[in-house]
Amino acid sequence: MSLKAIVFDRTPGSCKVQVLDQLLLPYQSQYLAINSIDDGFRVIKSMQVRGAPAIAIVGVLSILLECQLLLDESFLRTQSYYDLAHLSDRLNQRLDFLLSSRPTAVNLSNAINDIRRLIKSDLKMIYDSIYKYACDLVDEDFADNVTMGENGAKHLLKELEKEQFQGDFGVLTICNTGSLATSGYGTALGVIRSLHQRSKAENDSADPTSPASKKAKTSNAKMVRVFPLETRPYNQGSRLTAYELLHDEIPSTLITDSSISYLISTSKIPIKAAFVGADRIVKNGDTANKIGTFQLSLICRHFGIKFYVVAPTTTFDNRTETGDKIVVEERPPNEFRFVQGTLIDGSSSLPVIDQLSNTPVKAKVGITPLDMPVWNPSFDITPHDYIDGIITEKGVFTKAEDGKFHLESVSV
Ligand code: MRU
Repeated sequence: MSLKAIVFDRTPGSCKVQVLDQLLLPYQSQYLAINSIDDGFRVIKSMQVRGAPAIAIVGVLSILLECQLLLDESFLRTQSYYDLAHLSDRLNQRLDFLLSSRPTAVNLSNAINDIRRLIKSDLKMIYDSIYKYACDLVDEDFADNVTMGENGAKHLLKELEKEQFQGDFGVLTICNTGSLATSGYGTALGVIRSLHQRSKAENDSADPTSPASKKAKTSNAKMVRVFPLETRPYNQGSRLTAYELLHDEIPSTLITDSSISYLISTSKIPIKAAFVGADRIVKNGDTANKIGTFQLSLICRHFGIKFYVVAPTTTFDNRTETGDKIVVEERPPNEFRFVQGTLIDGSSSLPVIDQLSNTPVKAKVGITPLDMPVWNPSFDITPHDYIDGIITEKGVFTKAEDGKFHLESVSV
């Protein structure tokens, strides 16, 4: 069963939404109910849900549920929203509030702009149109991820064929871009899933007893291992991506953020590509993504390793020309001054369970003088010069002679 960050019961008029509390992973799976924009704002700001596509989906679903509450007559009687003449103003103010939760990922902002255009009639019609928008967003995000996965896998294998590479290879990734950051399957991790499925099919076809053995060989290159970066300071790589890779039985080895160069220069399995997600891709291709992505791109360039951004076109920001205009979110200093985790029982390597609440005991460990000033940007901007391709559901944007990205269709 695939991991689900967002559970959406889409019964019209009585929709329900639950999100997996990602702060408790990898030791505990607990879902939180979302009933309003306040709930959506809270889980996004606190990073109980995170990842650009998932943030947009939860944001939109929280708007839908707030409209559903407004439609409830008994609720209307006790709320100031009762004055429907001011509905549009009130809803737009609520959308501004939701938008202020996390500034860098553009998917939520794009979705909110779309929703503003739907606020033009009575509440029931607004609810119906947001309901349709929300359902389409969830479904299309999943379908687009699967398409991106295939586009990225085919593209890389074709590139490796061009350079006549044969044999096993490894890939790098940063942060979490999988099922937990999307409506399912993932972006960069989606490409990795597709590459893994192809490798598995290759293995099966090598087994003469397997039905897959009758199928033609598709590539001479095979991804055999993923190296996720731990992704300090929030550790999305070690807490979330590691969890997903283990869950899906994709061979992987976690590395620290500072091990990339040494891994590349010493690994017995050649590293052939890095796949990263995106929080915002502006018009010239500059890309905001998790802090550490820029330096990963520089290292890849140094070693001649392909560096790909993988994102749906909902992550495109068509209003901003260059990356220096992107607002980069700074997280609270204490997210850096402390390592947050779960206490592990030394004897069993299982989390210590609090007897009263029956939940794992959380630990917060200081790693610097508490009055040490720190700088804690959540994202960085990778200049388009260091990006070899932008993999989307529409195809792969690669750079032409003029140094600009052009959409190239991916052939089967
Ligand atoms: O701070 P986060 O965990 O929300 O950051 C997430 C990332 O940077 C992801 O790489 C990006 O949102 C793409 S997720 C498919």
